[in-house]
Amino acid sequence: MLATQAFALMAALSSATQEIFGDTIHALRNNIQFSFTNARGITRTYPEAYSNGNRAGGVELDPTPCAGRALFEFPILANGAQYTGGNPGAHRVVVAQSPTSQTAYDHCFLMTHQGVQDRNAFAKCNTYQIPVAQTFLLFSTDIPSQNLGFVDSRATTLDLTIAGKDYTIHQSPTILNRPGSTTGAVLWKITPLVAEWLASSDNLLWTSDALSSSSSVLELGCGISGLVGLVVAPSVARYTLTDQSYVARLVEKNLEENVAVANPNLSGQRRKGRPTAVQQKANLRFTPLDWQLDEVTPNLTGAVDVRSFDAVIACDCIYNDTLIEPLVQTCVDACKLRSRDEGAGKGPAICIVAQQLRDPEIFEGWIKEFNKHFRAWRVPEEALSKDLRSNPGFVVHIGVLRDTI
Ligand SMILES: C[S@@+](CC[C@H](N)C(=O)[O-])C[C@H]1O[C@@H](n2cnc3c(N)ncnc32)[C@H](O)[C@@H]1O
Repeated sequence: MLATQAFALMAALSSATQEIFGDTIHALRNNIQFSFTNARGITRTYPEAYSNGNRAGGVELDPTPCAGRALFEFPILANGAQYTGGNPGAHRVVVAQSPTSQTAYDHCFLMTHQGVQDRNAFAKCNTYQIPVAQTFLLFSTDIPSQNLGFVDSRATTLDLTIAGKDYTIHQSPTILNRPGSTTGAVLWKITPLVAEWLASSDNLLWTSDALSSSSSVLELGCGISGLVGLVVAPSVARYTLTDQSYVARLVEKNLEENVAVANPNLSGQRRKGRPTAVQQKANLRFTPLDWQLDEVTPNLTGAVDVRSFDAVIACDCIYNDTLIEPLVQTCVDACKLRSRDEGAGKGPAICIVAQQLRDPEIFEGWIKEFNKHFRAWRVPEEALSKDLRSNPGFVVHIGVLRDTI
């Protein structure tokens, strides 16, 4: 993915104004403006110069860490909707022009009207307040209870149709019920929906060229199914599935049964009238990768001449607070392979995290940790598939490492 493609993806996400942070810088660099006329007929155009202390309410905010630099502000709403005036006003992202380049900007701080007595005045936020507000809004919508989120925790075999192709997935309720952390022994509900979403050529990841036929993809915590890899691998150059080693036997079996082998016995068992999931196995492989124990290395691509990934995917991997930091660090390490890969000639890696919302505290913990390292967007509902969208408890975030864009 070239940097311009990363911008295309950011623009696609920002056109729906669902950004958490990064689009302000994108807007400034690319001269994108956003205007609205408020109820009093006053038109405001953003990004606008931030003039510290000259605003109604008269509060002068400490410009640290951007003292002495030209500052710009951009309004954002925590729920991702476009701000069109009115009270309470939007939060603001404040950015500063680089002292050395007119086209480079840094984030300085966020400010908000929330909790400030004078409704025209702002207070500085701590950096994570807005993602936290977003988490709050996510959880304040009614999320229907739907067990823990297994497709079926008792079945040993699941028949699924994704994008018109049939897959048979073997899973193990017995391993799931063993003591210890073996959640990957069965398929989780969000994953077939993410696979279906990624299978669509209308998906913004394909239309923005963030994913393409030359992409290398790494999946973390894939579980026994390998389903997202089975669906996506035929459209990309290579796809590496990873998880702890206890899933290896079943994931290999699922790859074996659902890929390239145009096995007549196998196709005879499938439901009539639908193509089977016949694919080439060569570009899809499983390798163990434990977020707490293993190092992320370029060898994960499985190709000696490919040293980094275009995309890192994790489906339903946020459920335990002790795993948040190792999971995010693994995402960081995997995306960083790209900046170290001088031969890649490609833009930054993107990290796609799909999650069923369960415990607000755990999700908030993840979003804070993720935001420390990544510029992150929540994929707007209109850019999700109908099935993902119709499920208010399912969210997809996309992140790009902060120091790469
Ligand atoms: C809820 S399951 C989701 C599995 C699969 N992505 C799906 O949606 O069907 C969470 C996954 O995270 C994996 N996981 C948990 N801790 C891990 C670790 N330390 N390293 C690698 N994977 C881990 C589990 O093995 C499991 O496969």
